[in-house]
Amino acid sequence: MAEIPDLPLVGKITEALKAAPRDIRKALENAAKDQVLDPTYPYRAEMDKKSYEAQMDRLQLQLVRLMHDVAATGKRLVVLFEGRDAAGKGGTIERTRENLNPRSAAIVALPTPTEREAGQWYFQRYVDWLPAKGEIALFDRSWYNRGIVERVFGFSTEHQRNAFFRQLPDFEQMLVDDGIILVKLWLDVGRAEQLRRFLDREADPLKQWKLSRIDVDGLAKWDDYTHAIRDTLNRSHSPIAPWTVILSDDKRRARLAAIQTILNAVDFAGKDADAIGIPDPAITGGPELLD
Ligand code: ADP
Ligand code: MLT
Repeated sequence: MAEIPDLPLVGKITEALKAAPRDIRKALENAAKDQVLDPTYPYRAEMDKKSYEAQMDRLQLQLVRLMHDVAATGKRLVVLFEGRDAAGKGGTIERTRENLNPRSAAIVALPTPTEREAGQWYFQRYVDWLPAKGEIALFDRSWYNRGIVERVFGFSTEHQRNAFFRQLPDFEQMLVDDGIILVKLWLDVGRAEQLRRFLDREADPLKQWKLSRIDVDGLAKWDDYTHAIRDTLNRSHSPIAPWTVILSDDKRRARLAAIQTILNAVDFAGKDADAIGIPDPAITGGPELLD
């Protein structure tokens, strides 16, 4: 296949792999396709496709009922999908949205702030995308950039970060006070699995566009991320706006747990608690799961 000249990042992952810790490289070598790479993950292999699809079908029906109810009763739902690069945010959002009306369930994936936006109140551009009555907003990354990627890469100052953490509880409190249902999901991916996904992206012409400079340069910043993530989640986990952490090395189990968490957060007509079930407690919990 011909090379597309405009993809300067292809090859950079393979290059960065050489600098990865030995145990991570070893985990990647000769790994079976369905094998979970992280030895601390509660499962050794991904869930089999048949039971995944059977459960997903049940959840999809519940999501459609949720959407009808949101529209009929004028609820407003915000779901934040957060996680390390390649944690599976995009795929989980796709599965959440696939049977919903795109008019009432929107994906909000904001680009890097413009110069003008950078000169505004930090939360301002996100406020524009909050849902109105009957709407669902699925945020692919969110205001939490300030505590994590912006800290790791130095895109904002410590002063700006302190202001963010000071304002954050009131900001989220205002959303909830005003009747918005706020769900915050953190998808966590292990280091070897993250590399495996980046290598897949690099090798697949349909996925190469997903590779960003942040992904590549972030590989050397694993520990900085770990620190920023723990700090941010611990400081923003509150009874009114709790985090749900989902260990996502197995994408299938993680997608099910994410959708179950969303469904359980909303009361809606036709809700079937048995069909939804509870998210797998082996991979779902609060920020303490990351300790
Ligand atoms: P994604 O993984 O969401 O496709 P990237 O990997 O390119 O996007 O970037 C990760 C996040 O970092 C994005 O939300 C992006 O807006 C943010 N980001 C990148 N560069 C900057 C910057 N200079 N200032 C602030 N945020 C940035
Ligand atoms: C993900 O897989 O988490 C996102 O879709 C892409 C990324 O952050 O690299």
